[in-house]
Amino acid sequence: MTFWSGTVAAESILLRFTEGEGTADLDAYLRAGGYQAARTALTTLAPESVIDIVEQSGLRGKGGAGFPTGRKWKFIPKGAPVKYVVVNGDEAEPCTFKDHLLLERAPHLLLEGIIITAYAVGAQRAYVYVRREGYLARERLEQAVAAAEQRGFLGDKIFGTGFSLQVVVHTGAGAYIAGEETALLESLEGRRAMPRARPPFPAVAGLYGKPTVINNVETLCHVPAVIRLGPEAYSALGPPALFSVSGHVRRPGVYELPLGTRMREMIDQAGGLRPGRRFKAAFPGGSSSAILTEAHLDVPMDYEPLQQAGSMLGSASLIVMDDTACIVRTVARGVDFYKEESCGKCTPCREGTVWLSQIFERILGGRGRMEDLDLLAHISGGLKGGTCFCLLGESVPPSLEASLRHFRHEYEHHIRTGRCDVDDAVGAAAGVA
Ligand SMILES: Cc1cc2nc3c(=O)[nH]c(=O)nc-3n(C[C@H](O)[C@H](O)[C@H](O)COP(=O)(O)O)c2cc1C
Ligand code: SF4
Repeated sequence: MTFWSGTVAAESILLRFTEGEGTADLDAYLRAGGYQAARTALTTLAPESVIDIVEQSGLRGKGGAGFPTGRKWKFIPKGAPVKYVVVNGDEAEPCTFKDHLLLERAPHLLLEGIIITAYAVGAQRAYVYVRREGYLARERLEQAVAAAEQRGFLGDKIFGTGFSLQVVVHTGAGAYIAGEETALLESLEGRRAMPRARPPFPAVAGLYGKPTVINNVETLCHVPAVIRLGPEAYSALGPPALFSVSGHVRRPGVYELPLGTRMREMIDQAGGLRPGRRFKAAFPGGSSSAILTEAHLDVPMDYEPLQQAGSMLGSASLIVMDDTACIVRTVARGVDFYKEESCGKCTPCREGTVWLSQIFERILGGRGRMEDLDLLAHISGGLKGGTCFCLLGESVPPSLEASLRHFRHEYEHHIRTGRCDVDDAVGAAAGVA
């Protein structure tokens, strides 16, 4: 897949390490200024100061929940003899593809972020969890770990300090639920990936029962820039974030843009819509975010504004749909994904997603009934309000309910006529009966 960067190079803190040949080669990374932030942190800053700097920078987790990173690190008990850093590189959310870009093209950037993080929280071992399909990501990361060990950036007494760190790359078996942090820990420990009850939270009892910081790949790739620039200068850049832009745009790819960039501008950066097409709707934060419409094109792509608009930033993957997209089919596909990926631990998610999928099959097969719309809303309601053990189950209602709210007429048309008005319109324009 080809990736484009939509940023001015001078302002880029992440994609500049991925452009061209990237910086998977250690010498290329060093030429780009690599490992200087880690050296600065380890040789001139106390671990607590590193955490304070990260907290002041406003860096928030990029895995979906947007939790403040520095605050998360502060939960790690100081005196614990064994602690771990776990990096979440599962990235199985449909249409989210930024972490793999970083893993494949800039693995040393991640390693540098890990070194700083482990130093800050006092961990001597870090695990990077990469999903099975990420063959190149794993290969590049393993090569980067070996190269960094050889040059003394990993291993014993890094930069001549008393700090030592070992990084282990682990491959998952390819399940969306393995990206949920406690399920990921189960998988790392050799069991089936199923979420754990919380509390205790991983910061207190995580991997092998020890205090564990779990962060997303991109989150940790921001850390060297936070140290290099300082919290104010980093924050003044937006702060920046990677957006996976896909769907009906002319240049889908990963874009580095300031948080708060408007959806309209982001679509422009991605080459705009295809000629002659009209914007119809978008998922601003991956398939688990509520669908937004034309009325939301000027909403800033940031945590709070998107929440106020009834959706969320999630993993910052903007999925754009033009007027050739059938909303019913799109939502049905999402429901099928969650049905397949449900781990089966709790009833509302395990059964509810199957029921929803059956109703969608009926509607799309021309056998729908008007009361199916109430049934969809009713089952969706059963997945909310804490009935599900983890957030996978709760990922289904936002897009489904938003589609019923904004595009009910499309459902009704399917049920009334047994046909798709979008397909009909596209077919008519193409001269197909
Ligand atoms: C079903 C599900 C899948 C998830 N998948 C991922 C994932 O692939 N990568 C990721 O970083 N976070 C994922 N998360 C979020 C993690 O549980 C966790 O919040 C995140 O790794 C914390 O890192 P951060 O604070 O740096 O964002 C997922 C959550 C859920 C509920
Ligand atoms: S909500 Fe779904 S994925 Fe999460 S624990 Fe329950 S069954 Fe498993």
